[in-house]
Amino acid sequence: MNLQGFLNDCAAIEAVAERIYLRLASSPSIEPWLRSVFQQLAEDESGHSRQLNSAALAFEQTEYGLKRIAHHRVVELLDEAEALLQRVKEDAVGAKEALACSIELENKFRKIHLDQATFFDDEQVMKTFNSLARSDAEHLATLQDAIAKFKRGEKKT
Ligand SMILES: [Fe+2]
Repeated sequence: MNLQGFLNDCAAIEAVAERIYLRLASSPSIEPWLRSVFQQLAEDESGHSRQLNSAALAFEQTEYGLKRIAHHRVVELLDEAEALLQRVKEDAVGAKEALACSIELENKFRKIHLDQATFFDDEQVMKTFNSLARSDAEHLATLQDAIAKFKRGEKKT
């Protein structure tokens, strides 16, 4: 497998995350303040996806050692994100569960970005993965705040 395929699969995960957040941002069962949180997250993911796709362009011929790059983990994570997207599309996920699932996914994104960042010979790709991991961490903080706010709201009613 070449590095381009790997980076494109990483970009695909970001694109699925974008669709999950967009769908949540337009869900009538979710309160407006929380919908705008998801809207902002969706915009970030769209940027990440573009960033990875354009990084991928440079690596058509570049092979990577299978042991070093955990491509199977990216594929598994993509499946997992797609399964959540499917459930979100069916309106099967309430606000609280959506937040919990998003936190779980962002945690996994962050871990994979951090782990993989150390394996790239290309400095630019390494920097991209480190910056993605920072953004995942910001998303986690945003989602943790949102879930705390959501729980406070639940207590009042
Ligand atoms: Fe992202």
